[in-house]
Amino acid sequence: MCGIIGYSGVQNATSILIEGLKRLEYRGYDSAGIAILHGEELAVRRSVGKLENLENLVRKEPLGGTVGIGHTRWATHGRPSEQNAHPHRSGDLVLVHNGIIENYLLLKHRLETEGYRFDSETDTEVMAHLLASYMKGGQSVYDAVRSAVGDLQGSYAVAVLCMSEPKVIVTARSGCPLVIGKNGEGTYLASDVTPLLVHTREVVFLEDGEIGVLTPSSISVTGMDGRTINRVPVQIDWDADAAEKEGYPHYMLKEIHEQPQVIMDTLGGRYDFDTGEADLPDLAISPEDLIRARRIWIVACGTSWHAGLVGKYLFEEMIGNPVQVDIASEFRYREPMIQEDDLFIAISQSGETADTLAAAREAKRRGAGVLAIVNVVGSSLAREADGVIYTRCGPEISVASTKAFTGQIIAMYLLALHMGRVRKILNIEEGRWWLDQYMMLPGRVEHVLKQEPNILASAKQYCTKKNFLYLGRGINYPIALEGALKLKEISYIHAEGYAAGEMKHGPIALVDEEMPVVVLAPRDRLYDKTINNLMEVRARNAPIVALASEGDHDIHRVAEVVFPIPDVHPLLTPILFTVALQLFAYHIAVLRGLDVDRPRNLAKSVTVE
Ligand code: AGP
Repeated sequence: MCGIIGYSGVQNATSILIEGLKRLEYRGYDSAGIAILHGEELAVRRSVGKLENLENLVRKEPLGGTVGIGHTRWATHGRPSEQNAHPHRSGDLVLVHNGIIENYLLLKHRLETEGYRFDSETDTEVMAHLLASYMKGGQSVYDAVRSAVGDLQGSYAVAVLCMSEPKVIVTARSGCPLVIGKNGEGTYLASDVTPLLVHTREVVFLEDGEIGVLTPSSISVTGMDGRTINRVPVQIDWDADAAEKEGYPHYMLKEIHEQPQVIMDTLGGRYDFDTGEADLPDLAISPEDLIRARRIWIVACGTSWHAGLVGKYLFEEMIGNPVQVDIASEFRYREPMIQEDDLFIAISQSGETADTLAAAREAKRRGAGVLAIVNVVGSSLAREADGVIYTRCGPEISVASTKAFTGQIIAMYLLALHMGRVRKILNIEEGRWWLDQYMMLPGRVEHVLKQEPNILASAKQYCTKKNFLYLGRGINYPIALEGALKLKEISYIHAEGYAAGEMKHGPIALVDEEMPVVVLAPRDRLYDKTINNLMEVRARNAPIVALASEGDHDIHRVAEVVFPIPDVHPLLTPILFTVALQLFAYHIAVLRGLDVDRPRNLAKSVTVE
């Protein structure tokens, strides 16, 4: 996620902005910049990489002035570069933006016909020229912001500075956080409270569709209709560390709760309801190659490998395409029978995992097309792949992967739809139907998140156990693996994920009253078989925690604890089950007093073998 900051007052704006951007570093970024009202000009300084590069630049080319805006960029559209860094300029206005403008290409074409020339690859620059075009028509900055945001589809938190109204910063939000505040030395805005806490603890959180106007001595808030909104400031008692987690006790819990937004962001702008199609502009793999692809290979590590296993069931059942899934460290050292016409998908949150990178290079060497499903723009894997589908999760700070897994699954839902429509396996109605199903997911995940108190209660019941068995069938077998991995990597409890049908082939020897069995039991075509497995578990007095379809009362006959999961198409259940298992593992680890965000022995990105 990008971070924005702004100041209008009587103090040196450069130091306030730089210090504020430092407080936003935790959000993750790959470039940064500031714009300062410097005498008679709006001066911009931008740099790639760490904030110290920007500080060195500003030291070499100092900026005086008491009004400015700043930005830390987490690249989504356009690689990390000085050109793509914010602030972006159009004429005598500059702006910074957090969010994703989904219809930026349409707006860009419209602005190019009006004569605007673009210097960057970003969606944000579109908004700068859009504002300029409205101001050319005689509108004030405030009115231009109202007009421009009315044209936008997607999410934004923006701050705008213009020479025509030099001391005024106009800011607006929809879908991305924005907070403003003031003290005796000026007024402040930021993506979250963290940078404001050193200046004031009384802040106003803007709501979606609201506009803030900051002058050196005042802040005001209006709706899009121009009507003033009188908002009583909120007193913030958090310290900076709590503020970085937006009040959550750990990044992991914050990232678990971000998943509805991740689904919306990863889907955003990548579908067309009229045609029932997915739109993947960075795919860079032609329809002809997608049609020709005989076999799909999916290679990854850890949680990303579990996402790949979900993909196997998805592509085989949704579009009838054979899929081979491999652990990257195995793929790279065996003789994989990969052929030129095969489609090779590498999945990685970081895009830097050594084994996954090596596997992708091996696939390329053997002539296969390589598609990366990756979260970090400009990462090694993203740069080396032939095509990319970026998961738009923002930085995943906690070592245990949660929202990135969800983003990876969503990316594959889009790819499966795209291939199904390109191959004419899915017609327009079926395409629209699948899109409807995808659009329901954020709300369904919210519903699962609301079960957190029940999940916490069960975590209390089982947090002292020494061994767990996780069981699943079909597309939820990988989710049993993922649930077990989440538990073991943050709580250090031994947990095994298993195909439920395999239990009789060995693991049942372990089952006793001391081994809780967590089972994924949606009311699908495999339900009865799963119930039979549970009867065998129950006969050995093992406690059963069942994740079951809402309204399933039969499951209570066999399970001690039941987490009801909202009904969705069987192929879409993985995401809902995973969220419940993430919360279960998280709360058990917290109850055991462990460092949830930085588990022992683990690294966020395994860049060595
Ligand atoms: C997942 O919780 C772990 N942190 C780990 O298994 C991770 O998924 C694996 O190392 C792959 O990382 P990547 O997605 O960045 O390639």
